[in-house]
Amino acid sequence: MTLPIQNYALLTDEECDVRIMEAKATLGKRCVILGHHYQRDEVFKHADFSGDSLMLSRNAAQADAEYIVFCGVHFMAEVADILSRPEQIAILPDMAAGCSMADMANLLKVQRCWDELAAVINVESQVTPVTYINSAADLKAFCGRHSGTVCTSSNAQKILEWSFAQREKVLFFPDQHLGRNTGYRMGIPLEQMVTWDFDKPQGGLTAEQIQQAKIILWKGFCSVHQVFQPIHIDNFLLRYPDAKVISHPEASFEVCQKSEYIGSTEYILKTVRNAEPNTRWLVATELNLVNRLHEECKAEGKNVHFMSPTLCMCSTMFRTDPQHLLWVLENLVQGEVVNPIQVPENVARFAKQALDNMLSIV
Ligand code: 13P
Ligand code: SF4
Repeated sequence: MTLPIQNYALLTDEECDVRIMEAKATLGKRCVILGHHYQRDEVFKHADFSGDSLMLSRNAAQADAEYIVFCGVHFMAEVADILSRPEQIAILPDMAAGCSMADMANLLKVQRCWDELAAVINVESQVTPVTYINSAADLKAFCGRHSGTVCTSSNAQKILEWSFAQREKVLFFPDQHLGRNTGYRMGIPLEQMVTWDFDKPQGGLTAEQIQQAKIILWKGFCSVHQVFQPIHIDNFLLRYPDAKVISHPEASFEVCQKSEYIGSTEYILKTVRNAEPNTRWLVATELNLVNRLHEECKAEGKNVHFMSPTLCMCSTMFRTDPQHLLWVLENLVQGEVVNPIQVPENVARFAKQALDNMLSIV
């Protein structure tokens, strides 16, 4: 019989900690826990593998375990389901752990965009659709159906290079910032990267703007990364002129322009870990990662600061707490699966094409 979540809600983190370790020991190799870098400490420490989205999707594709428990957000567990073998089960401890950026694009709106673009240009021969991995499975399937692909924050440039080798233009969704920051670093002028406003007819663009664009950027963004502002960098550098600035490419163009280093969560961790001792870092990404990195590096005299004066964590990543993780694991010990993520077969097939495409490019 399924153990109800209500039995777990009032347990302390310490109680959960002990029982999570016991349940993991009982399940052994039958279960693997994947943890994204934004997970809170109490959950992150139980992950068998941690990483950025690209690393975790590779982990999911290579996992042997019967159960893949994904401590991350919904689209990540979908990717685990799509890339794993059919008999493996991907599990998301809390179904409310979504991604607000992923929710800014949906199939109806992307299809409408495609149709409206088709009235101006020949989409099938001129446009490669690329979805950021932070998107629902049916958008990955859309890209698979139209010979497009998926990218993550760590491979976006290679994916765009590949896309331009296929066709002259890219439709990039849902994150405008990742698309713009990457395109600009590749030498594409800002005027050739137009923003598609999905609430306006023809994206709010003229036919001429569409014809001249290299990248059509969906008007989506991450609510966590949009908190960071250029003024935060300016003020910090006034106090600490030698500090180094590192940002996730989901931060705005203006913030990334003022950053010495730009890259995925894994890149940020590696760069700061490998830096000289006694260096000071200003970091534009999620709070849990930054706090953990500071704790890890302070013995070497490194100071790692969060960029914004107001604290902002990813509230959906935060949904996964030790109580939900324990609930999932103790149910598995009983032979019960709670919160499985199952992408419908007709979606998964084409989404897998787009993901396999990505994994073969990088
Ligand atoms: P990474 O792939 O860099 O881990 O980014 C995922 C994410 O959601 C960042 O907000
Ligand atoms: Fe989504 Fe932003 Fe949270 Fe990343 S930080 S999971 S993009 S809401």
